[in-house]
Amino acid sequence: MAGKLWQGRFREATSKLVESFTASVRFDQRLYRYDIEGSIAHCKMLAQQGLLSREEEDTLIQGLGEILREIERGTFVFDDAQEDVHMAIEQLLIEKVGEVGGKLHTGRSRNDQVALDIRLFLRDEIQGVDEDIKDLQNSLVEQAKANLGVVMPGFTHLQHAQPVLFSHHLMAYYEMLRRDRQRLTASFDRVDVSPLGSAALAGTSLPIDSEVTAELLGFSAVSRNSIDAVSDRDFIIEFTSGAALIMMHLSRMCEELILWSSTEFDYIELSEGFCTGSSIMPQKKNPDVPELIRGKSGRVYGHLMSLLTVMKGLPLAYNRDLQEDKEPLFDTVDTVRQSLRILARLWENVRVNKERMEKMASSGFTLATDVAEYLVNKGMGFRQAHRAVGKMVRYCLEEGKELEQMTIQEFKGFASVISEDIHEILDLKHSVDSRKSVGGTSLQLVREAITRAEEELSS
Ligand code: ARG
Repeated sequence: MAGKLWQGRFREATSKLVESFTASVRFDQRLYRYDIEGSIAHCKMLAQQGLLSREEEDTLIQGLGEILREIERGTFVFDDAQEDVHMAIEQLLIEKVGEVGGKLHTGRSRNDQVALDIRLFLRDEIQGVDEDIKDLQNSLVEQAKANLGVVMPGFTHLQHAQPVLFSHHLMAYYEMLRRDRQRLTASFDRVDVSPLGSAALAGTSLPIDSEVTAELLGFSAVSRNSIDAVSDRDFIIEFTSGAALIMMHLSRMCEELILWSSTEFDYIELSEGFCTGSSIMPQKKNPDVPELIRGKSGRVYGHLMSLLTVMKGLPLAYNRDLQEDKEPLFDTVDTVRQSLRILARLWENVRVNKERMEKMASSGFTLATDVAEYLVNKGMGFRQAHRAVGKMVRYCLEEGKELEQMTIQEFKGFASVISEDIHEILDLKHSVDSRKSVGGTSLQLVREAITRAEEELSS
């Protein structure tokens, strides 16, 4: 292998320790496709501007194409001595096509090159994450549709609160994921800006045309300040913070999958293909997948924090610290995409224990608010009604019965306005269906929410 591309100024060889410490090629080789794509666009622009002859352009582009194929075939071995993916490819190009390969870097620096590569990478990944979220949303909507009408206890403080439709609960996650997608889409515009032409930090005296490369690469804008373009990574932080929010939502969902599949809840059953066993306890079928996703949310939060910390206090413009952006970013992308994909498949295979959910939905005085609202409809003030129903609950607790087991005489003892129609109120389906205020859990509203979601997902 020839010496380093920047060797000219140096008399001594790089210490091996330093070589391996500073090299990023082990992980940034992941950007090879974008690096080559960016270099091809750069060559085309250089030729158009008369900085390369047409022949030189063809030679370079052909050489870059060959390198792409070699990397894809796995015949090219990356080496720490090449430092990073940019120099590895440039060096190989020079080995392949000779001296003319050295013209590739005309009017460009690794500083604008690396910013370009990450932006190209992230543009694709944002679209990929969006597809993955959509996939999970589809699975949730499918389950919501298949189980429409199933009543479960709604919780506050993890205590039975009011009956809700299981589908309504699932659609709450649909909404969170919808916002997650909106956040990604909004951040896309800030990623979709070409930094190429900023060179090391100040731009270049050579007659390049940044608009041309930006257009060839499908960017909707060119960065407006070269110093900013090479030193800014806020677009990565923005993505990672969006990813952290996605993981937070997934983690809450996973917590519920874990709780609901426990013997104590027994609301759902996870399919065996999505569970693992224990090495000592033969009976175990553990929810490791949701547990791992819940656990992995921690590492994405960590990446967000490490990126913020890397950036804090960096003087403008480029500093090598910025190389530390890649591993957190790559791991964030991989973690969030894997988690979304596996959850989409897991949800398709969840079996819902309708009987159990409905049985639990009426226990714990979940219809108490319904009785209070019944009294309000009969003309009683809400606070007064609340107090009266509170007393009924206390009475039931002492008598060891449920509200629906009380006789009219017993009811009248707490509020004389109560009549036979109270029994219509003490019914799960009635309770759910009566909650017709915007975003409520009535069957009709939930059915509409599902239809709206299906339309959103198919557009
Ligand atoms: N590997 C470097 C990074 O990831 C590329 C840019 C290096 N630029 C430099 N002047 N050393 O940030």
